[in-house]
Amino acid sequence: MEHYFTNNEDLKSEIRYIKYNYGDTSLTLASDNGVFAKDKIDYGSKFLIETFLKTSLIKKGDFLDLGCGYGFIGLTLKKMLDVNMTMVDVNKRAIHLTKMNLKSNNLVATVYLSDGFTNITDNFDVIITNPPIRVGKDILLRLLLDSVSHLKDKGELWFVIRKDQGAKSVMKILAEKYTCAVVAKSKGFYIIKVTN
Ligand SMILES: C[S@@+](CC[C@H](N)C(=O)[O-])C[C@H]1O[C@@H](n2cnc3c(N)ncnc32)[C@H](O)[C@@H]1O
Repeated sequence: MEHYFTNNEDLKSEIRYIKYNYGDTSLTLASDNGVFAKDKIDYGSKFLIETFLKTSLIKKGDFLDLGCGYGFIGLTLKKMLDVNMTMVDVNKRAIHLTKMNLKSNNLVATVYLSDGFTNITDNFDVIITNPPIRVGKDILLRLLLDSVSHLKDKGELWFVIRKDQGAKSVMKILAEKYTCAVVAKSKGFYIIKVTN
């Protein structure tokens, strides 16, 4: 079975455009077959960045959007905050779309292909992610634990996960080593902040 995170070179391209408005900010994003939330921005991703923008005290520095898809999270934060944004994904089509979307929205970020942290050497003030769930719990936990070890001093990992996707058990494991808090809840989605 093909998942949105696999690289299927044969998948037909059918670009479509998605609009997002938040306050005075407006973005138009190209999306395509083979990427997550291809027709509509995901509710969890929206809830994540809107909670982050309302709550986090970190408004500048080095940010990583891990598993950027077509770029919704990183582009929105880059547009609203004066940050150095890095965006990575394992999906080649997602990387291509993110680069296109940065250009069309006149934004600049560092974008590259990476399977988890394989190609990432830097540390970050904020790592933000709507993580892949279908990869399974072991890979999900590896991505989250590796994220915490790529935080700078006083850095923050922010992620969204649904209650029925195992939010509580994931939090329990992270909380064994790190400070972990549920910052907000809505419609079964939990926004979780982790600090080391
Ligand atoms: C739930 S989607 C979120 C996409 C996008 N951030 C958004 O909010 O619409 C998770 C993303 O993680 C990517 N992904 C899956 N496994 C990955 C891995 N090992 N390393 C990096 N990215 C991965 C997928 O390709 C997908 O784009």
